[in-house]
Amino acid sequence: MSAVPNLTLNNGVQIPQFGFGTFQIEPEKTKETTLKAIELGYRHIDTAEMYRNEKQVGEAVRASGIDRSEFFVTSKLNNGAHAYDDALAAFDQTMADLDIEYLDLFLVHWPLPQVGDFVETWRAMEEIYRSGRCRAIGVSNFQPHHLQRLFDETEIVPVVNQIEVHPYLTQDDVREFGTKNGVLTESWAPIAKGKVVDDPTITRIAEQHGKTASQVTLRWHIQRGDIVFPKSVNPDRMRENIDIFDFELSDDEVATISQLNRDDRMGPHPDEFNWTP
Ligand SMILES: NC(=O)c1ccc[n+]([C@@H]2O[C@H](COP(=O)([O-])OP(=O)(O)OC[C@H]3O[C@@H](n4cnc5c(N)ncnc54)[C@H](OP(=O)(O)O)[C@@H]3O)[C@@H](O)[C@H]2O)c1
Repeated sequence: MSAVPNLTLNNGVQIPQFGFGTFQIEPEKTKETTLKAIELGYRHIDTAEMYRNEKQVGEAVRASGIDRSEFFVTSKLNNGAHAYDDALAAFDQTMADLDIEYLDLFLVHWPLPQVGDFVETWRAMEEIYRSGRCRAIGVSNFQPHHLQRLFDETEIVPVVNQIEVHPYLTQDDVREFGTKNGVLTESWAPIAKGKVVDDPTITRIAEQHGKTASQVTLRWHIQRGDIVFPKSVNPDRMRENIDIFDFELSDDEVATISQLNRDDRMGPHPDEFNWTP
């Protein structure tokens, strides 16, 4: 299995382009599941305060016996902590729960434009970054007009925008806006929560490569330049998902998969989502 490539964030930090998602992994199963992923070669792990499993992700990283510097760990600020002081306190809590010396990447999970002012939240993120306890800061679920406010009103450009992207929601406008401004895209729900396995077009392409529909879809993300971290609790599927660095899709195949777009969201629209715990 070839090595996972790194991309360079706009502050110079290297990020593995492929990793392990932990949304909806129950806390009591997270340590064991994450350790299995680490054993299979995953080094980039995506968690969030909202997933209630940061503690167990940290336990897995510490129990792995692998040097901390080999991991790239991301967590996210929860929706209830957007006020300046609340964001600082939430980061302290995330650090205490993870207990892994430093964080690689911290994200604002949702912009919540109807709840508060995410510009104030971003100023707290800037203070967190300057403290040196986190190597990079970014956002998640930001539309171009949310990002534009950060560019106009704050100092640090987010390194990534983590958004829902898969063949049924290609998000080319948001991705292109990010690229133009030095913000890499991370694709959440990269295999559309497993739905791509039933897609006839992707399955046909997969058969031609001797690969599965999930592998071809993950490869499509990689070749489009996005960062992905599929979630699985099943060791066979974990192994399948990371085994995508020994083949290449043609430009035509990438374009064919992109044409499956139908703006079909699995999650809420960022302008409408206003949930806080
Ligand atoms: N920023 C955000 O707002 C946000 C939102 C959602 C997710 N995320 C992040 O993105 C990560 C990935 O997204 P996601 O977990 O929502 O969706 P996903 O990775 O697209 O899909 C996960 C689902 O697909 C199944 N699956 C995994 N590998 C498979 C394979 N090879 N063949 C068939 N089915 C397979 C999994 O089941 P099994 O576990 O049973 O294999 C699970 O039900 C999350 O874990 C989280 O870290 C971020």
